[in-house]
Amino acid sequence: MNDLVLAKKIKNKFVQLYNETPSMFRSPGRINLIGEHTDYNMGYVLPAAIDKVIYIAISPRKDLQCKIFAYDMNDFVECSIERIIQSDKHWANYLLGVIDQLKKAGYKFNGFNCVFGGNIPIGAGLSSSAALEAGLAFALNQIYSLNIDSLSLVKMSQKAENEFVGVNCGIMDQYINIFGKGGNVLRLDCRSLEREYFPFDFQNISIVLFDTNVSHSLANSEYNQRRNECSEGVKKIKEGYTQVKSLRDISLDMLNEFQPKLTEVVFKRCKYVIEENDRLLKACDALSGHDLKTFGALMRKTHEGLSKDYEVSCKELDFLVELVKDNPKVYGSRMMGGGFGGCTINIIEKDAVEKISKEVQDKYKKYFGIEAKIYETQISNGTNMVKVEDETL
Ligand code: GLA
Repeated sequence: MNDLVLAKKIKNKFVQLYNETPSMFRSPGRINLIGEHTDYNMGYVLPAAIDKVIYIAISPRKDLQCKIFAYDMNDFVECSIERIIQSDKHWANYLLGVIDQLKKAGYKFNGFNCVFGGNIPIGAGLSSSAALEAGLAFALNQIYSLNIDSLSLVKMSQKAENEFVGVNCGIMDQYINIFGKGGNVLRLDCRSLEREYFPFDFQNISIVLFDTNVSHSLANSEYNQRRNECSEGVKKIKEGYTQVKSLRDISLDMLNEFQPKLTEVVFKRCKYVIEENDRLLKACDALSGHDLKTFGALMRKTHEGLSKDYEVSCKELDFLVELVKDNPKVYGSRMMGGGFGGCTINIIEKDAVEKISKEVQDKYKKYFGIEAKIYETQISNGTNMVKVEDETL
C-alpha cells in the first residue's frame, strides 16, 4: 500500500468515527547506518528517517477527554487529560507517556480525537515506538500551538519512553524522528546534541533491511544491563580520571590502563563503544569521499563488535550477515538497533537486490523455518504535517 492510500485510510476512519476533519501528521521509522549502543554513552550515531511511517489523524476537543483509535490493532482507549495512568494496553502507553510529559512540563491543553496507523513493522527495530511518541508530541504541539521547540519535543518523547513505558532508551530514535531529512543521514553527537547532515545520494545503491522476524524477549532487560555495564566501567575509570563523565571521555589507552580493575565483560563492553565512536567518525569521512567500500568495511567491523564484544546479536542476525558478507555486490551488512532480533541493514547494488533478497529468504527459511521479510528503504523527512489530498506526500 502506498503512502497516500495509507494516509487516506487513516483519515477516512477518523471521519467515520468522529464526524469531523482531522489534521494529518506523518511520522517515520528509522534506520541507523553505524553507531550502535553509543547514544546513551554520549557518543555518535548516524541514523536516517525512512519511508515506513505512521499516520496520525487528530483534532482538538473542547473537553479534556482523549479518544485514541489504533487502526492496525482495531483497538481503542479513552481517558481524561486530568488523570493519565499506565494502561494495560501496551501500545497506549507510548502515547499516554507523551501527554504525561507535556503536563509535567506545565503545558495546558484540552483533549483530542485521534486515529493512527501505518506500516512500520512492530518489533523489527525500526522504532515504531519513537514514531508514536514523537509523532504525537509534534501533533499536539501543532494543534494546540504550544510553541515547543523541536529539541524539547525530542527530549519529552524520550522521557515518555524512559519514565512511562519503562525502557531506558537513548535519544537517537526520537531525535531522528523529528530531525530526519530526505536523502540525508544525520550524524548526531549525543553529548553536545550537535547535528550534521551527510547526503546519502548513491544512484545505484539501495539500503535494504533483512528482517529476522524474531524478537527475543530478553531485549529490554539486556538493554538495561548493557547500560549498567557501561556505567560500571565509567565509574571505575573515574577513580583515576575524575573529569570523566561518560565513555565518550575515555580513550582506548585509558581503558587498557584500567583493564586489571575491570571484569572481562565490562572491559569488552567499554572497548566496543570506544571503538564504535571512532569507526563512526571514519565512516562519515568515507561517506563524504563517496567511498562506500570503506564505509561498508566499517559496518562489518561494527557487527563483529556487537556480536562478540557487546553481545547483543543472536544466531538469526549473525546468519543473515554471514550470508551476504563476501558478496561483492554488498558493501556492508550488520545488525541494527538494540539487537536480539529485528533487522540487519545492508548496502547493496540496486541491480542485485532482487536476486540477493531471494537467496537470503530461501536460505533463512531452510535453516530456521522462518520467513525473513525484506524492506528496500528510502531515506525520508522527519515528522511533518501533511495534506492528505496532496499527491506528493
Ligand atoms: C534502541 C534505543 C536507542 C539506541 C539503540 C541502540 O533503538 O531506543 O536509543 O540505544 O537501541 O543503538
